[in-house]
Amino acid sequence: MRDTHPPRGKFITFEGIDGAGKSTHIDWVAQRLRARPDATPVVTTREPGGTPLGEDLRALLLHRKMDLETEALLMFAARREHIAEVIAPALARGDWVISDRFTDATFAYQGGGRGLPTARLEALEQWVQGDLQPDLTLLFDVPLETASERLAGARAPDKFEAESRAFFERTRAEYLRRAAQSPGRFRVIDATRTIEAIRDELENIVAEFVATR
Ligand code: ADP
Ligand code: TYD
Repeated sequence: MRDTHPPRGKFITFEGIDGAGKSTHIDWVAQRLRARPDATPVVTTREPGGTPLGEDLRALLLHRKMDLETEALLMFAARREHIAEVIAPALARGDWVISDRFTDATFAYQGGGRGLPTARLEALEQWVQGDLQPDLTLLFDVPLETASERLAGARAPDKFEAESRAFFERTRAEYLRRAAQSPGRFRVIDATRTIEAIRDELENIVAEFVATR
């Protein structure tokens, strides 16, 4: 009998501390992927959020003070819903999924930034995701000064954006540690450059990724 399942789609995540500039590039990368000759549908989404329930949880997570473990559990609850309702069905259809943040953000913010033990997060990751991991993670990296200058002009700070400099130093360090640990999955983007220079690099990364998959 013929196998009628399409090949699983690819899962790409964007990461970085607040103000690094990742959201600026997501739609552009999605358009580049949609423009390729053998294009499959591309779904763009975000965390926390991406589903009606997840967006409700996002509003709580970004604006309500809460216990650290509650925060980590709600991040993973929103993620479970996101995987079940959006990510897994899209990948099974053969669509590509691009998410503005995923589990690396929990390790960086709740683990690195807030100090929750990694083993707790790994247990939740295993429970919520099983084998699901991004195929490619683009880490937008900037020093804190650059990120805070960019945010100062852009928007009123939410609960995370109002955190201390030391918090973001730890968050950035944890992102870079994870990138060094999984060099096959991560590409670290020097996001201090102009938007045009970053696009040129993203164009190359996407072309290489598409060619090797
Ligand atoms: P993030 O999603 O990483 O928090 P955004 O993409 O929202 O960051 O960017 C934060 C602010 O910085 C926005 O006002 C955006 O226009 C600006 N910005 C983004 N990338 C650059 C860049 N390479 N150079 C200068 N400003 C940038
Ligand atoms: P983001 O969507 O990047 O915010 P914005 O639209 O303001 O750029 O992310 C929301 C915030 O949630 C951000 O400060 C990082 C934080 N966050 C965590 O702390 N843990 C997580 O697991 C995720 C996904 C996000």
